[in-house]
Amino acid sequence: MSVLIAPSLLSANFANLQKDIEIINNSEADYFHIDVMDGVFVPNISFGFPVIKQINALAKKPLDVHLMIVNPDNYIEDFKNVGANILTVHYEACNHLHRTIQNIKENGMKAGVSLNPHTSVDVLQDVINDIDIVLIMSVNPGFGGQKFIENTYNKIKQCKELIKKNNANTLIEVDGGVNNLNAGKLVENGADILVAGNYIFKSDDMQETIALLKKQ
Ligand code: DX5
Ligand code: ZN
Repeated sequence: MSVLIAPSLLSANFANLQKDIEIINNSEADYFHIDVMDGVFVPNISFGFPVIKQINALAKKPLDVHLMIVNPDNYIEDFKNVGANILTVHYEACNHLHRTIQNIKENGMKAGVSLNPHTSVDVLQDVINDIDIVLIMSVNPGFGGQKFIENTYNKIKQCKELIKKNNANTLIEVDGGVNNLNAGKLVENGADILVAGNYIFKSDDMQETIALLKKQ
């Protein structure tokens, strides 16, 4: 399977989202990555339900929604209702992660769990078979355009081992500072999905950039 690409709309042109969505629709990208920030879990606020609903009306690829919010349990059904296909919560934001994962799946979505750069992959040992996607943050969450953290390669390897040891089908997604310089090595180490914001949306030819990432 070739690597899956999830362009992060956080770096899109919010004054003309439709144009950027159509470019992604007609590209080799696999998902729309949607970053939801609440100004509490992370020091930034992005967008909420009305915007996601409009994105969903135009998007021809599944919505990969990354929640950087506290108390995600309060909103799982709402995200389903605005069109989320994958719903990823942060390990650091969940006191009852097992329950949250089950709740996401009962609502018909794929369940993702994200780890901040300081959180060890080991914390997922007892839930790895319940998770569809592990989202490894390769920057501290909250902003696009940050520098990639090199320790991510080790975390991907550790995560891959954990998945194999448990005979799980979990995919590994990497988010933050992904570009042409690190994409190849990320895939070699075991990444299945690459999120990229700035690298795609600030490039001259987004479709060509996506095709380039896809070739890793
Ligand atoms: C950061 C977000 C990322 C971000 C990635 O908190 O989760 O999805 O948009 O942007 P780049 O690729 O520019 O680092
Ligand atoms: Zn993200």
